[in-house]
Amino acid sequence: MKGVILAGGSGTRLRPLTKVTNKHLLPVYSKPMIYYPIQTLLNAGVKKILIVTGNESAGDFMKLLGSGKELGAEFTYKLQDGSFGIAHALSLAEDFVGKEKFIVVLGDNVIEDNISEAAKDFESNNYDGLIFLKSVHDPERFGVVELSSDKITGIEEKPKQPKTNFAVTGVYMYSPSIFDIIRKLKPSARGELEITDVNNALIERNKLTHKMLSGFWSDAGTFPSLFRASEFAKENEEPSSNSKEH
Ligand code: TTP
Repeated sequence: MKGVILAGGSGTRLRPLTKVTNKHLLPVYSKPMIYYPIQTLLNAGVKKILIVTGNESAGDFMKLLGSGKELGAEFTYKLQDGSFGIAHALSLAEDFVGKEKFIVVLGDNVIEDNISEAAKDFESNNYDGLIFLKSVHDPERFGVVELSSDKITGIEEKPKQPKTNFAVTGVYMYSPSIFDIIRKLKPSARGELEITDVNNALIERNKLTHKMLSGFWSDAGTFPSLFRASEFAKENEEPSSNSKEH
């Protein structure tokens, strides 16, 4: 399977840090944020990775990541001309993924789970989408699922009164059929093409399945979540690098 990392957006919640650089180049403890989604894909055996990013920092991404050889990956880059939403960024992956199912990770997501088994299952099943859920204490910050006997019946974006505690994380698996769905989407009230609308369209067709993440998950897009992600990264750093500590 191929992988797609979405690293556009405007990162307004991390201003002023993001005034001069792209959010995904900021440090999460000892590494740039984008290393974490890259590692998630590499751990799942995915080496061919498309990185979608905004125009302004594109050169910095290439300087940092290059061809991918050093990390054991093979990177392709694509530019998103503005912050038009996650589903818009995803639409740019159509040529790259071709006819096969693929994995998407948001560029600011740090996860502990290995998703390779899920990827194997998804490759051979009849679903067009798989989302990963995580039980959280503050579901109103996220897309939240409604469940009926373990089946997702809908997703609400940042609900004031969430129906469950299960947030939709930034790790997804899709078939190329979602590109037709994205073509028909209308921008939301905030002017973006929403990934929640893509997932709700799949629910209507009975084509969306889900799995729970059992380990750590956080985005790193706000100051508290960036801090939590950094703490997790520090705790999980290889023991040998602790010797560098002062
Ligand atoms: P968000 O955190 O929802 O949006 P953002 O990165 O613009 O930040 P803020 O809300 O603070 O302004 O996006 C989650 C991830 O999705 C982000 O890490 C990058 C990706 N993304 C894109 O690639 N393109 C986009 O147009 C948007 C909105 C997000």
